[in-house]
Amino acid sequence: MPSVTAADYLPPSRDLDDLAAAAQACRGCDLFENATQTVFGQGPADARLMLVGEQPGDREDLAGQPFVGPAGRLLDKALREAQIPREPVYVTNAVKHFKFVAAERGPRRIHKTPSRTEVVSCRPWLLAEIETVTPEVLVLLGATAAKALLGNDFRLTAHRGEVVRLPPGEVPDQIDPAVVVTLHPSAVLRGPAEARDESFASLVADLRLAATLLTG
Ligand code: URA
Ligand code: SF4
Repeated sequence: MPSVTAADYLPPSRDLDDLAAAAQACRGCDLFENATQTVFGQGPADARLMLVGEQPGDREDLAGQPFVGPAGRLLDKALREAQIPREPVYVTNAVKHFKFVAAERGPRRIHKTPSRTEVVSCRPWLLAEIETVTPEVLVLLGATAAKALLGNDFRLTAHRGEVVRLPPGEVPDQIDPAVVVTLHPSAVLRGPAEARDESFASLVADLRLAATLLTG
């Protein structure tokens, strides 16, 4: 466990606005240094469905909102196809600051996958969001989100489309969302063109599955 984590910046309150405000001042790992701002989760506090991505991308870093760039557009398309409106959904990321390297030429910033240490350092925010929103169903988009909550040994390719539970002790026992693990929208975008239709269809199928797990 790193010596400093987001836990050192977590307020006692479990109000989303208080959490989001405190997260703006987080220095729980080094990623705040080069990013524009903390991109906290967004959505209603009583959302029954929560989606967890990896980390904000270039566009999200500038806008301060999750999934508003190209990956967000693909996610929106998948949600539409699965007949899930986005407004009642809580959308967040495993890591709250954008990690990138500068392109060799030009102003572009290239996404870098966060390290295990960064994921573990940032996890207190995600756990606090889950504790606050208490979703019925949690969709983990991609390996980073899956490993953040299900352990570093979790293999997305082996378990995509399955319904699992959070390991005990992560959040209070009474919070026990059904967890669906699926592809990250960026993996659909970046994957080989000939596989794109199939991976998009998998993402939609997994979102549909998540919707069926909502009670009432
Ligand atoms: N990719 C993510 O994982 N999250 C975002 O918010 C945007 C892109
Ligand atoms: Fe804090 Fe997470 Fe940002 Fe690191 S990435 S500074 S832990 S909010």
